[in-house]
Amino acid sequence: MQKNAIILAAGKGTRMKSKLYKVLHQVCGKPMVAHVLDQLEAAKIDNIITVVGYGAETVEEAIGTRAKFVLQKQQLGTGHAVMQAADLLADLPGQTLVVSGDTPLFTADTFEKLIEYHTQRKAAVTILTSQAPDPTGYGRIVRNEVGIVERIVEQKDASDEEKKITEINTGVYCFDNQKLFAALKLLNNDNAQGEYYLTDVIGILKGQDEVVTAYRMADFDESMGVNDRVALARANQIMQKRINTKLMQEGVTMLDPATTYIDAGVKVGNDTVIEGNVVIKGNTTIGSDCLIGAGSRITDSTIHDNVKIISSTLEEAEMHDGSDIGPNSHLRPQAEIGKDVHIGNFCEVKKAYIGEGTKVGHLTYVGDATLGKDINVGCGVVFVNYDGAQKHHTNVGDHAFIGSNSNLVAPVNIAPNSFVAAGSTITDDTKQFDLAIARARQTNKEDYAKKLPW
Ligand code: UD1
Ligand code: CA
Repeated sequence: MQKNAIILAAGKGTRMKSKLYKVLHQVCGKPMVAHVLDQLEAAKIDNIITVVGYGAETVEEAIGTRAKFVLQKQQLGTGHAVMQAADLLADLPGQTLVVSGDTPLFTADTFEKLIEYHTQRKAAVTILTSQAPDPTGYGRIVRNEVGIVERIVEQKDASDEEKKITEINTGVYCFDNQKLFAALKLLNNDNAQGEYYLTDVIGILKGQDEVVTAYRMADFDESMGVNDRVALARANQIMQKRINTKLMQEGVTMLDPATTYIDAGVKVGNDTVIEGNVVIKGNTTIGSDCLIGAGSRITDSTIHDNVKIISSTLEEAEMHDGSDIGPNSHLRPQAEIGKDVHIGNFCEVKKAYIGEGTKVGHLTYVGDATLGKDINVGCGVVFVNYDGAQKHHTNVGDHAFIGSNSNLVAPVNIAPNSFVAAGSTITDDTKQFDLAIARARQTNKEDYAKKLPW
């Protein structure tokens, strides 16, 4: 059977009080609407249509080729939104799932169960419902005295009696496609909000003696709709718990999962230990047997095996097996740290490759450079890469020694095995085994200190 889905994503999201359109607000690093798409794709929906309106171009850009788009020019309600897909869908046989773009926590498993329930009962529509601890704001499921679903009533239209109902409409439905579009033609906007409610389609189908059923899911949290920032924070927490639980089940140790913030899609190998207050974002992969110490923040980076990161910040960087960094260091884009390299504290590395076994212990800036193997970079070395207009490159050969508090003024080449004396400002290339010393000579004035007035 052909399976279609419509994602409703045209609303502005007034309650978010944001410049960003609601469905683009992120949950664990991914726009809410992208979470919905992920799960629909996993549930093997053949044909996904997204209804866009506010910020249509931005939303379309975020979704790309993963869905077709229809435009809802004016936001006249969820029923009106679905109507916009009529040209693409109305005549097709099969089933249509309707989902909101602001419910990021649904799983493919729930969608599949809903479709199965609906198919077995040969229903015209099956509403996905759940039991809300606090149903305020949600549409309520009105059942008759024998428990059969009659209609959905929106919060603003509900009587005091109806407001007490705790079974809510999750905003997800499985429809017989043709019956959905036929019923939409009968919608009106005669309600408290003056909108064409999709929820009224339920009552319409019921009035036509169609089979209307409800599938009640166990987990309310999964059905949560995000209308404001309070709900957004809660959705992040729930999703974070899911991500962390899965990683722990796969063999990652977390000292404090409640303060471990890992984006959806991040990969972490087994026997890696993650301490508390860690943020791991974007397209990041971490290998096995690593230690990610408290206070670290890692974005879009690749960390191989056996790597130690202590209270440091990494962005678009790579660290190879056995390397370590920190505390309090910073890898910026295109920093590639070789095997068994040691980067100590208060160092910054940008657009530089550091070869195997090299040590950069303390207070050093390495920018626009290629360093070979087994080099010792002393304390407080500056790779002077910028002349105010352009960036220049520095090369340092294998086994070189860069004394503390040196400046390597790029462009410059430090040959393998050469030795830069502490405090030198190096502007000329060295040859292999050279000792380069570039600082004023010291003079000691005998007994002069006695003449000082203090
Ligand atoms: C809706 C349901 C409510 C349900 C709740 C679940 C209706 C009338 N109410 O209420 O029963 O309990 O979801 O989360 O359907 N949208 C459009 N075009 C519009 C209006 C909305 O595309 O003209 C989109 C929004 O961008 C959003 C979704 O539809 O993604 C739901 O709209 P929203 O205003 O959030 O509805 P709720 O008040 O949450
Ligand atoms: Ca909503």
